[in-house]
Amino acid sequence: MKHIGPKIVAGPPGPKVSEALRGAGLSDADYGSPLVKQAESIYIEDPDGNVFIDLVSGRCVANTGHSHPRVVKAIKDQLDRGFHWQNLEMYRLQDRLGEMTGLSPCQIFWSQSGSMVNDFAIKAARRITGRPGIISFTGSYHGSSIGGISLSGYDPSMKRHYGPLVPEIHHVPYAACYRCPFKMEPNSCGLACLDYLEDMVFKSYVTPDETAAVFVEPIQGDAGWHVPPSEWHQRLRRICDDHGMLLVVDEVQTAFGRTGKWTAMEHWGVQGDIVLLGKAMASGVPISACVLPRSLLESTDPEPIPIHAQSFSATPLGVAAAHATMDVIRDEKLCENSEKTGAYMKKRLVDLMDTQSCIGDIRGLGLLLGVEIVKDRDAKTPAPELANTICREAFKRGLFIMNMGSYGGRAIRVAPPLIITPEQVDVAVEVLDESMKAATG
Ligand SMILES: Cc1ncc(COP(=O)(O)O)c(C=O)c1O
Repeated sequence: MKHIGPKIVAGPPGPKVSEALRGAGLSDADYGSPLVKQAESIYIEDPDGNVFIDLVSGRCVANTGHSHPRVVKAIKDQLDRGFHWQNLEMYRLQDRLGEMTGLSPCQIFWSQSGSMVNDFAIKAARRITGRPGIISFTGSYHGSSIGGISLSGYDPSMKRHYGPLVPEIHHVPYAACYRCPFKMEPNSCGLACLDYLEDMVFKSYVTPDETAAVFVEPIQGDAGWHVPPSEWHQRLRRICDDHGMLLVVDEVQTAFGRTGKWTAMEHWGVQGDIVLLGKAMASGVPISACVLPRSLLESTDPEPIPIHAQSFSATPLGVAAAHATMDVIRDEKLCENSEKTGAYMKKRLVDLMDTQSCIGDIRGLGLLLGVEIVKDRDAKTPAPELANTICREAFKRGLFIMNMGSYGGRAIRVAPPLIITPEQVDVAVEVLDESMKAATG
């Protein structure tokens, strides 16, 4: 499928997809995420022969690119050897993930989604500390399970009519500095949101000594790719230590090279007590991990923790694909490419701001970037409809992007596979530019 630019030959949608949509009770206007006939590298070819650039890595999953030959081979080889029930390779993966997250020697609760490992972490944190309370952040996204939506502060619509939710989860302001809730600037605020946690929250409605854990994303992803200022995570770590609370770091979106490091917390040098992994871990084979140090588990009570059984735990296909994914990230230096090509892409997007007044801000690390869409750059007025129109215009041109955001704002997610080259970045940015012109003109 070798391709540099996208190729649109019919529609989109073309006749095959259009017919399938009608059969599913949908219309052509519902086609905004390419259906896969074949996916390779940074490209997705749909059933009508349209080739899209996948600028979101299928929601930050295809970090090694779609269908990386080494990952495909590992899966096929494992299929021949059996594909249900755990094998020895699970323990080798446990060691690798323990090393990657700084939690060796560790134990892992395996699952198949980011949502589920957030649920596990709620259980583990409560069980280990014997405390019921949890602190989470406004704007956070932790999944769609009942625990995931209870932890999340992404958007009220994800909770509406699903209550009662998991009790004793308290949301406090994240360092979403673009529209600071305290109307301050990150260089001079003195980390006002963490002052608020210590001086207001702990002294009025949350008792820290009854709080088991703080759940945090190193970079708030779906909220609009907000990167906290330096010292923010370090201070949060200290607050947890001061009160005996666990720091649960949700790296589901940010790990495996996405931000230019194996885990995003490495940017701050902060060690979580429990680290959650998923998404890109096996390049698309569903597997996720709640990683806990063995010392933490052993510190609890004399009974072994009766965690939970699952039919599918560390599935052989997931484990094989995860090893191959980590090998590719290591051997092809994808953390380095994420950092280097991410910096190049960020610069190209910042340059676009000269001519595209609808861009309010560009932020992010490595190849996890957000392009904030606004009506007015100075006033930072959110423009959610315009963000949708830009995504639709991009899709028509063969560029697959999405927009997301909390706090009333909307940012376009720019998170291509980590194998992307500067030449491919140039093409993608050109198509984005044309799409913005079409949407605003
Ligand atoms: C930080 C974070 N945690 C958890 C999840 C939920 O993962 P999943 O969709 O695999 O359940 C997501 C998904 O976007 C996420 O970004």
